[in-house]
Amino acid sequence: MKATARAHTNIALIKYWGKRDEALILPTNNSLSLTLDGFYTTTTVEFREALTKDLFFLNEEPITGDQYERVTAFLDLIRSLKENTYGTIYAEVRSINKVPTAAGFASSASGFAALAAAGTRALGIDMSDAELSRLTRQGSGSACRSIFGGFAEWEKGERADGSDSYAVPIQPQDYWDIRVAAVVLNATMKKVSSRAGMKRTVETSPFFQSWVDSIPQDLEQIKTGIANRDFNQVGRIAEANCLKMHATTLGASPPFSYWHDTTMAVMDTIQQLRDNGVPAYFTIDAGPNVKVLYLPEHEKVVKETLQTIPGVTDVILSKPGRGITYI
Ligand code: DP6
Repeated sequence: MKATARAHTNIALIKYWGKRDEALILPTNNSLSLTLDGFYTTTTVEFREALTKDLFFLNEEPITGDQYERVTAFLDLIRSLKENTYGTIYAEVRSINKVPTAAGFASSASGFAALAAAGTRALGIDMSDAELSRLTRQGSGSACRSIFGGFAEWEKGERADGSDSYAVPIQPQDYWDIRVAAVVLNATMKKVSSRAGMKRTVETSPFFQSWVDSIPQDLEQIKTGIANRDFNQVGRIAEANCLKMHATTLGASPPFSYWHDTTMAVMDTIQQLRDNGVPAYFTIDAGPNVKVLYLPEHEKVVKETLQTIPGVTDVILSKPGRGITYI
């Protein structure tokens, strides 16, 4: 009744931004991501009859409050998949995050993917990758893409029950050595969570529908870019898609933005690098930190340039990562 799984986080090149069903976590648009090897969560789940409630430890610390509630709600979902005649059997969950929280990566992406994989395996539930992705989605949307390595697409699906909403692999980890620098800024934590931010955007931003309408073309073009290993095409579409997502937040009521002045300085520096002939592109999630896409031959110049920007505290480099592994 015990299993350990590891999942890597992913960075969206076409963003998931907006839900059509909040309880089931069903998105309004498809999204596309690259899984990263540098950032991951390793989780052990052990179901034990002697426990009277679930226990959750993150980096050896016992967790209570909202984070604990999200984990137990997800364990309930896993338990509901297994017929059992003895009543609820609780679990001890131990997660180790190799995702520096400050790096602005949703640790929930690797966290829920590892929890889904370890939890189902611990209960002896056999699942295909698609089924595991569909389950993981209900913990945190972006996490459903972390079941796969390399490039993955989350298909939003059409059905009201979410049965056709899960990620599919596009290209594996070793398909293309494209790199990502996580640029960590000296900025305070985000005030609006991605969950709250996308909800407010859906409900109030007049730009939201145009965002949704623009996705099919972005997806088609980025997939062509990936198929041709055309770095400039992939980078150009990813950067523009990120800017569009962030533009929707400015139209929300009340308006909000995830950017910090250093965020904009990094964006500006990347555009200058391109003017100087170095292909590099940025993308930003629901926080102030920036991720920069580049090719291995430009690693030195990209890293050195980013490190000199005032307000940048760290630059962490990553390659494409693998999908779920069991340990
Ligand atoms: C901006 O997956 O954190 O990073 O489904 O509510 O848990 P919930 O949201 P979450 O949102 C991620 C939003 C994003 C874009 C992306 O990863 O696609």
